[in-house]
Amino acid sequence: MNLTLRVWRQSSPAAPGRLVDYKAADISPDMSFLEMLDVVNEGLIKAGQDPIAFDSDCREGICGTCGCMVNGVAHGPDADTTVCQLHMRRFKDGDTIVIEPWRARAFPVLKDLVVDRSALDRIVQAGGYTSINVGSAPDGNAILIAKAASDEAMDYAQCIGCGACVASCKNASAALFTAAKVSHLALLPQGQPERLTRVRAMVDRMDAEGFGACSNEGECEATCPKGISIAGIARMNRQYTAAVLSGAGDKKAAASGD
Ligand code: SF4
Ligand code: FES
Repeated sequence: MNLTLRVWRQSSPAAPGRLVDYKAADISPDMSFLEMLDVVNEGLIKAGQDPIAFDSDCREGICGTCGCMVNGVAHGPDADTTVCQLHMRRFKDGDTIVIEPWRARAFPVLKDLVVDRSALDRIVQAGGYTSINVGSAPDGNAILIAKAASDEAMDYAQCIGCGACVASCKNASAALFTAAKVSHLALLPQGQPERLTRVRAMVDRMDAEGFGACSNEGECEATCPKGISIAGIARMNRQYTAAVLSGAGDKKAAASGD
């Protein structure tokens, strides 16, 4: 396949960026999208040019490191698929493909397609854990958990923190990501004692990081490579309301100025 790539190039966070055209020649339809970028980068390096910077790690759809907009869609055209698992057979010979970084105020561009997603880490640091003693593995296995609850918790635990939900949302909201983290803990007995202080801390951190509010558009769910349900956002909002009305987490919120 011979393709034209229109790629966002930006040398540093403060530098102005622009779309630059590159030829991607002799691309196998069996290559992944990132392997195709590797081939283009080899050509750029051989020509003495700066290769296109992009993030990746596992290339198996499980780590959440990769991510870019492909023709305006987060992770590209395939449902439930990260861009590292997208294959070139999805495109046609002669296509022009536009490749851009996630665009959100809370995700500043570091270089080309690489953005700073540490804001998501700080949301998890604010409360995405249990700090109580939950015992050892045998203790965990001794607690009976309804099958439906454990299945749902595992569904939310699939979130890989890629940030596609933020990039897809017109408000750049991190509600789906935060709801996934809140839900997978809240659905299990070990997550119950800190349920309200956790949601208060995580949502307040999400707001402080500059993510927008959720207005139920649904693009996040449509482009999430792990199929995280927006039902989690409703749970998060209910729990947040309960936390504020009950005063859970008031001290922490006052200390952080949120
Ligand atoms: S909710 Fe989905 S899109 Fe958002 S960070 Fe998690 S896996 Fe990525
Ligand atoms: S590189 Fe790990 S999910 Fe894509």
